Amino acid sequence: MDDAGALRAELADHLLGSGALRDSQWHNAFRAVPRHGFLPWFYRQLADGDWERITAGDPRWLELVYADRVWVTQFDGDDTVTGGTPTCSSSMPTIMAIMLEALEVHSGQSVLEVGTGTGYNAALLCHVTGSGNVTTIDVDPDISARARERLHANGFSPTCVTGDGALGHPARAPYDRLLATCSVATIPPAWLEQTRPGGLVVTTLHRPIGAGLVRLVSGGDGTGEGRVLPEDGRFIPLRAHALPPAFAGAGEFDRRATTVPFATVVDPASPFEFFAGISLPDVVAGPNRLAHSDGSWVHHRRAHVDQGGPRRLWDIAEDALAQWRDLGEPRRADFGVTVAHDVQHLTLGELSWPL
Ligand SMILES: C[S@@+](CC[C@H](N)C(=O)[O-])C[C@H]1O[C@@H](n2cnc3c(N)ncnc32)[C@H](O)[C@@H]1O
Repeated sequence: MDDAGALRAELADHLLGSGALRDSQWHNAFRAVPRHGFLPWFYRQLADGDWERITAGDPRWLELVYADRVWVTQFDGDDTVTGGTPTCSSSMPTIMAIMLEALEVHSGQSVLEVGTGTGYNAALLCHVTGSGNVTTIDVDPDISARARERLHANGFSPTCVTGDGALGHPARAPYDRLLATCSVATIPPAWLEQTRPGGLVVTTLHRPIGAGLVRLVSGGDGTGEGRVLPEDGRFIPLRAHALPPAFAGAGEFDRRATTVPFATVVDPASPFEFFAGISLPDVVAGPNRLAHSDGSWVHHRRAHVDQGGPRRLWDIAEDALAQWRDLGEPRRADFGVTVAHDVQHLTLGELSWPL
């Protein structure tokens, strides 16, 4: 076994050992598909926030490629810049494994992947279900062309499409499975229309607070029912679903004491964070700050908070925390997702909230 093969086996075994992978077909795929074939270069963030380009000639390259890490490959939709907002990456293998397992795909089933990116995930899908059954779509023509080349160079030949994945790809529908490796604020109706009745759609919800992985069973007519998965998952948003960055709070404000730490509301590891996201839709978090585009803002200062703008976002967060405790502290996997023709909801028993 060469160096790459040994590192690949180590990564696949790590994914199995951690429980991210359970099915031997995916263990075999991670052992077989060369991630380095899809990452001849990528960017690594340094401690000071700057980005370093790592290329195939670098002695650290191979080991980093096979680390269980997300590697950014593009910023701001522009291949010539280093730094900015990541717009393409090879996702963290653990998250890829969790999503591929959730997809319950078997050899011979047709799959649409939204978000081709580097092509690595498409290659894993091809390994399991056969290149002829995989369609992958990316909105960025350069990313799409590069991925097609690398897929071919590594022996895979899925149908690579350039276009807006929110519209799916009707020419190859219906699909047995649809996997989105970019996140969405709401489920695009085309995804459920193009997935066979009983087929599965796996995606991540793009919410700055309380993001989540979801799996839906398609009704075949644009409707679907499903659940939020227990694992956390954060992804680059579908380009049209990205939110504008938060702005700094200014003007008049109120100050009051608080005993709720900032992390309780915004840290993905906090069990309350998913419910906080339901109560604070479109609220963006920065270091010790919350902001909404309506001008509402919070500056958390440990023992007290400053709140400005038309709504008191920290009051909303604390009320939601009390409600969450009254509800028995539900975790993300306790929530359902329903998609009807005109509305989409997160549900918890009799309760529901619009997506
Ligand atoms: C996290 S990357 C996907 C990772 C990829 N599956 C891999 O294995 O490397 C997200 C991708 O979604 C793409 N994307 C963003 N908006 C899109 C859209 N509306 N339709 C299709 N692709 C989109 C981006 O260009 C980017 O390549």
